[in-house]
Amino acid sequence: MQIRDALIMGREYLNLHNIQSAHLDAQVLLSKVTGLDRTGLLLQGEVVLTAEQQQAYRSLLDRRAWGEPVAYLTGSKEFMGLDFLVTPAVLIPRPDTELLVETALEHLKKADRSNPLAVDVGTGSGAIAISLAHLVPELQAWAIDLSAEALEIAKQNARLHRVEDRIHFMQGNLLKPLPLELKGKISVITANLPYIPSGDIPGLMTDVKDFEPHLALDGGLDGLDLYRLLLPDAYNFLQPGGLLLMEIGPGQGEPARNILPSHLWHSQIKLDLAHRERLVVACRGGLSQEAGNRILNVEVVEQKL
Ligand SMILES: C[S@@+](CC[C@H](N)C(=O)[O-])C[C@H]1O[C@@H](n2cnc3c(N)ncnc32)[C@H](O)[C@@H]1O
Repeated sequence: MQIRDALIMGREYLNLHNIQSAHLDAQVLLSKVTGLDRTGLLLQGEVVLTAEQQQAYRSLLDRRAWGEPVAYLTGSKEFMGLDFLVTPAVLIPRPDTELLVETALEHLKKADRSNPLAVDVGTGSGAIAISLAHLVPELQAWAIDLSAEALEIAKQNARLHRVEDRIHFMQGNLLKPLPLELKGKISVITANLPYIPSGDIPGLMTDVKDFEPHLALDGGLDGLDLYRLLLPDAYNFLQPGGLLLMEIGPGQGEPARNILPSHLWHSQIKLDLAHRERLVVACRGGLSQEAGNRILNVEVVEQKL
């Protein structure tokens, strides 16, 4: 079978199984099998696949048809322009989470410190902590996850991007593993913790519900259980004016701001590119109201002080 025919066959097969991105997925899977990029596939459409390549492609198409995400089939996902290894032990990093990284970066640059410290809680593949360490060469970070399997992948990713000497990986619950001497010293805590309300899990797409780790998804009744538990320690570890960035889903902005005691935190909601609520930016108090407002100098939907 020629590459051109294999692409058509793959697209039609995935279409039959109601895979929305059938055309792109067929290309990505055939790239994985042949080692050619997508342009290469188009330029070399007449090349004939070997029997082994055809078999490998067929097997990947079958797995995709059953809903297995493309990133688990290829073993990698791009995030912030970097390639991350992914396995079913970790959530596949989403483009929506780049807003959280960009907001953290903005703050770290503004903070103008020689040795900024950051914590990434619920690190999964390490995508957030590793992107930040890659982009801020003087950053020291602590990356925490409950899952030992996820931390193994995160460590591999840190080595891949040569930041393993600046990230301390720790297994445990929320911020409990952090050394106490870091209290009051952290500039930014990034948290993309599970925030899907338990009742919404059965309605998720097969790709997510049946293949991504349950531990990465379920945020309890309203999705905010882990953020509630995180807040007291987050307050203690942040320096005054430090930021806690909590990724959220649409409709969770106000409920998430309401769990932040207003005498301790300044907060605001940021929207993603599709104008959906995606991030709560919480600035630790202990500053004047004016200074808090200055730090939250990002797109404001509504300000609560
Ligand atoms: C939504 S995933 C986010 C992964 C990664 N930060 C990202 O943005 O792609 C949430 C992660 O939180 C971890 N997690 C869940 N409960 C936790 C807890 N109580 N303490 C630490 N990590 C937790 C999960 O294992 C999972 O890796």
